[in-house]
Amino acid sequence: MEGYTSSSYGDGFADIYDRWYGSLSDPDAIIATLTDLVGRGASVLELGVGTGRLALPLAAAGFTVTGVDSSAAMLDRCRAGDTASILRLIEGDMVDDLPDERFDVVLAAYNTVFNLLDTARQQACFAAVADRLNDNGRFVVEAFVPDELPTEISAAGEIIDDGDRIRVREITATSVTLSVSRHDPTQRIAEGQFIELSETGGVRLRPWMIHYCSPDELDALAVAAGLVLEARYAGFDLGTFGAESTRHVSIYRRA
Ligand SMILES: C[S@@+](CC[C@H](N)C(=O)[O-])C[C@H]1O[C@@H](n2cnc3c(N)ncnc32)[C@H](O)[C@@H]1O
Repeated sequence: MEGYTSSSYGDGFADIYDRWYGSLSDPDAIIATLTDLVGRGASVLELGVGTGRLALPLAAAGFTVTGVDSSAAMLDRCRAGDTASILRLIEGDMVDDLPDERFDVVLAAYNTVFNLLDTARQQACFAAVADRLNDNGRFVVEAFVPDELPTEISAAGEIIDDGDRIRVREITATSVTLSVSRHDPTQRIAEGQFIELSETGGVRLRPWMIHYCSPDELDALAVAAGLVLEARYAGFDLGTFGAESTRHVSIYRRA
């Protein structure tokens, strides 16, 4: 997407992120998982910390949390919610600007690793994380599992469904928010805009773009960075991961 940068998503979504996505997953389940893995009080580096949806409850539960995010708007929201100043926040890139320290856990929740828009950047991220893990440290990655055949092709070889979509996100008496997206399965890129049209505010665009990959491909990035898969679950409730799973939580450690 022309003009899209690493801060476009955060800057576009910061004001509505908690309202739209605040209840995506249960922070208590993440707290329980990390407590089992490394114990309360352990150091956690969250990549793409956003509004602090997870970082704030983790810090309140006793973890020492550092959050990195490339979006100043997201970090402003996070600081506003961090009334007791329990987080250390760094404005920067989750590959190039990680602090030169080691952590018990590095966390990339909710598809955050897919915000890196090609395999080389995702590989660089795994390498940067591997350099920052304590000897017993873990890299915890939460992401969706891509469909095997995201594009529908007819028996004659025509593309029936090219992956383009327009959907309605919200309607009020004075506004409508549309979700417009497209998908290129050959490049593994999905991108879109939420378009808010309102009588009072005119037009507001919220762009997003991801480069997705499969759990096996993430494992290959990990191996190349000197890490190995320790466990994979269907979610932070530690359900069994299987062929039907639509999401995964993968835990990597030093090989
Ligand atoms: C899907 S949100 C996840 C936010 C939070 N971790 C959560 O689970 O609610 C992804 C976050 O990653 C940030 N982000 C995107 N690309 C980034 C990059 N290259 N470096 C650092 N942060 C990035 C965005 O600004 C956004 O806050």
